[in-house]
Parts: sequence; C-alpha cells; structure tokens
Amino acid sequence: MYSRIIGTGRYLPKRVLTNFELEKMVDTSDEWIKTRTGISERHIAADDETTSDLAFHAAKQAIATAEIAAETIDMIIVGTTTPDLVFPNVACLVQERLGIAGCPAFSVETACSGFIYALTIADQFVRTGFARRPLVIGAETMSRIIDWTDRETCVLFGDGAGAVILDAAEQPGIIYSSLGADGRYRKLLEADSGISKAPGQGEKTALRMKGNEVFKVAVRTLESMVDDVIEKNDLAQGEIDWFVPHQANLRIIAATAKRLNIPMERVVLTVAEHGNTSAASVPMALDTAIRDGRIQRGDLLLLEAFGGGFTWGASLIRY
Ligand code: UT7
Repeated sequence: MYSRIIGTGRYLPKRVLTNFELEKMVDTSDEWIKTRTGISERHIAADDETTSDLAFHAAKQAIATAEIAAETIDMIIVGTTTPDLVFPNVACLVQERLGIAGCPAFSVETACSGFIYALTIADQFVRTGFARRPLVIGAETMSRIIDWTDRETCVLFGDGAGAVILDAAEQPGIIYSSLGADGRYRKLLEADSGISKAPGQGEKTALRMKGNEVFKVAVRTLESMVDDVIEKNDLAQGEIDWFVPHQANLRIIAATAKRLNIPMERVVLTVAEHGNTSAASVPMALDTAIRDGRIQRGDLLLLEAFGGGFTWGASLIRY
C-alpha cells in the first residue's frame, strides 16, 4: 500500500508586513532584503490568532478540495516549532476544531523540515496499514519567537499554514523519502529558550541564527540530498516536473535547482510573498502551484526542506 495526495490547502494571516515597513523598524533596506533573500513581504498572525487557528483553516481547505468527510481522516500530524501551548499538541487542537475525536493526533518538532518529517511519518503509517487517510499540516507563527530588534532575523520570517490529505492507494503517491539530522549544528539556528530551559528574568524566547554559516551547510546538505534522491531513483534529467523547495532564501533555492539541473521556471517560488514560514513553507508552496494549475495530476514532484537542528528531508512524489 502507498499514499497519495488527494487534497491540499493553505492559510495566510491577513496582515502583510512589507520590507518598507521593516525599514522603519530596524537598520535595513528593501534592496538588501530582496537581493540577499528574495523576500518582499510576509504575513503576520493577529495577536489573537494562534498556530492551531492557521492550521485549522488550511486543513478545512484541504478537506474541501479532497471532497471528503472530515470524519474519514484517521490520523493528524502537525509539523510546527511554534505550538499554541506546551500541550495539548497542535494536532489535538485542530482535531477538536474539526470535530473528529478519536484518531491519533500528534506534532513533530523539527523546525523548517517539520512538514517533510510529518509527511514521511504519515506515509509510513499508510504503508504499514495503520492509517488510511492522514491529515498532514505544517503551521507556524514564527513572528512570536522573532526579536523584532534583530535585523539579521526579523526580516526573514513569516506566519502561515499548509495542509495535505493523504489517501491509501495501490500506486505511489509518495515514491521515496529521505530524512536526516545533525545536532552538532544546534547552536547555529535555535530558539534560545523554552520550557525546561526557561528564558532569563524579563526575557522572551527568541530565534537566533548565524545566517551565513547556516547558508553554507544548507546548500551543501541540500545538494548531497538531491544527489541521493536522483541516484536512488535513477532519475533522468528533465524527469522531475516541479521542484517544491523550502522557501528560506532564493539563493539557496537557486543553488539546489542548479544541482538538480532544473530550470527556475520549474521551481515553485513563494519566498517573495511569504518569507520563510518554517514548516509551513513547503505545503503552502505545493498548494499554491496545485491551485493555480501549474502542478497537474501525474506530475513528478520533489519537495525538500532544511532547518534548525539541523534537520532536513525530501519527498519524491507522483501527484
Ligand atoms: O529556514 C531555516 C534555514 N535558514 C536558512 O537557510 C537561512 C540561511 N541564511 C541566509 O539566508 C543568509 O545567510 C542571510 C539572508 C540570513 C544573510 O545573508 P548573507 O549574504 O549570508 O549576509 P551576511 O550574514 O554575510 O551579512 C552580510 C552583511 C553584514 O554586514 P557586514 O559585516 O558585511 O558589514 C550584516 O551585518 O549584511 C549585514 N546585514 C544586514 N544589512 C541590512 C545582516 N542583516 C541585514 C539586514 N539589513 N537585515
């Protein structure tokens, strides 16, 4: 048994924060942000909007697109690094809002690669017959862990959620998955406190990144991961129809696309409008290109992500 995608959805908070607004907040410029990252604007959750709110709206859209009854979903997995609460996990909160009590619901905390991890886990459950119709979500409110005085990070991130419904099928679907992690790099990209390691007196948990060092390892790791996907699946040049990468930086995406030998017209880009939405970036990009008709049934897709941990992953998918 394999799993295939039967519906996708996404949700972006209403508020748009432009580079020009950031120019008034920190010592930066629209020109610097655009040339170094490709980002023009990002969406920011309202004060009363949480990660599970964004995830719920994305899930509702995926359910509507798949034309299924929500009750037929038999597992919920959410990739997020910005949960509403310590617990219950975001998947339980989404389950309650969908009114589908009973099925297992849990979250995966692997930062930007959270969706790829969640998708791979869901696929394994379908392959073993444990689940038939998982709902997989990547959702983040990165704005809550941003230090808005730190120009090296505050210009990069945004909020959003993307969702996918998988269904058991005789043919793949998800053909091949690759996951990896290297905790030795933990200090290069981290949220500097949390629960067991509490923030200092009067301080707030904040995302810290040594961007330039992350950049180098990201490019190297993504290149070797795509080499592995090509080799293990014996892929010929031009066989991948659409590359759907994590949207952290246009230059990282372009370097990986070059390694894949795929032209930029075949790369789904949302980084300009969304910024880096961590675990939400890949499912939102996927939904964007499915909804606007670029990705068609039968197309071969390569999804990938890299982020804090470091963690990384890729999925080769026949849509
Ligand atoms: O999603 C998880 C994984 N994350 C990533 O993949 C992010 C990886 N890193 C990056 O995308 C890039 O490294 C950044 C966009 C974060 C930075 O770009 P960069 O080309 O690596 O710049 P840099 O860090 O080497 O900084 C270059 C200069 C520095 O000034 P000096 O030392 O050359 O005078 C920075 O202080 O740019 C300065 N700078 C800024 N200037 C204006 C850093 N941030 C800003 C800013 N506005 N916002």
